[in-house]
Amino acid sequence: MDVLIHLFVGLHIIGIAALLGGFLTQLKAMGRDAARFVPAMLHGAATMLVTGVILVGLNQADDQPVDNVKIGVKLALLIVILGLVYVKRDDERVEKPLFGLVGLLTVANVFIAVLWT
Ligand code: HEM
Repeated sequence: MDVLIHLFVGLHIIGIAALLGGFLTQLKAMGRDAARFVPAMLHGAATMLVTGVILVGLNQADDQPVDNVKIGVKLALLIVILGLVYVKRDDERVEKPLFGLVGLLTVANVFIAVLWT
């Protein structure tokens, strides 16, 4: 079970890489107010949701403690991220504050994941 959990943590991290990496590729364009949500961001956010839910299930099945408040906060932020990226996925230009908000919430989730113990 441990190997399976670590495997999904790995996939979870690949999801963050796609979401945050996609965001970072658009930073220069954001400066020109011409950023867009690239497909990697949508796929990364969806990967986070699927692997995160599976990780909760695997941890519970393995009798490992799951911090429901921490997971709830991460889930709430991710739903906002995924909703915004999904709705605006075809927009060729996303307003700077909205685009910046997605990056900010993603980084916030990374620090919630690693600092909330
Ligand atoms: C952008 C959103 C997210 C980011 C950046 C993120 C980040 C991370 C990181 C860096 C880890 C490994 C460090 C650790 O073990 O705490 C992790 C683990 C984990 N994540 Fe996420 N996560 C996100 C969303 C979610 C969601 C939506 C869920 C559940 C619905 C979730 C559930 C979990 C679980 C269960 C673990 C295993 C470790 C633990 O129990 O804390 N994550 N996440």
